[in-house]
Amino acid sequence: MLGRDEQIGVRNISPRQRQEILDGLNLDLMYEYAAMIQYIQHAAVLTGPEYTAVIREELDHAQDEHEHAVIVADLINYLGGTPTVEVAKRLTSEDNVEMLRQDLQAEYDAIARYLERIEQLESAGLYDSAQKIRNIVLVEQDHAIDLEKALGIRKKLGRV
Ligand SMILES: [Fe+2]
Ligand SMILES: [Fe+2]
Repeated sequence: MLGRDEQIGVRNISPRQRQEILDGLNLDLMYEYAAMIQYIQHAAVLTGPEYTAVIREELDHAQDEHEHAVIVADLINYLGGTPTVEVAKRLTSEDNVEMLRQDLQAEYDAIARYLERIEQLESAGLYDSAQKIRNIVLVEQDHAIDLEKALGIRKKLGRV
């Protein structure tokens, strides 16, 4: 009978290190649930002929966030934790542009969280799990690019 550690193929990760990773991944999961809900709601209430393509994009993003939630929940389970059912804070607005700004900020925040998670996973030697998060963060970057374009954001050198 394999013990919990053998099951995940990791023996030299401390309980504290594992707990930190699991807490971080559960935070990521709460935000994936929230992002999916927020995109569905925004897609429903965004209005105006110039938003037709954006609405389609928001619905595509909602599906991506759903996929991410499934991947993160499976990863938490694989690492010996319990995936949360809690949902992070969702934002909305009566203003189209403000909604897109809320979505873009959420993407920037997700990217920052996932980069931290990759560092934590790699420093624990969990390179395979880190790769799963890398795949997700690439999609979040694409989401941010879509929203920057929709908002007409042009960055100046040295500024984000
Ligand atoms: Fe996501
Ligand atoms: Fe995203």
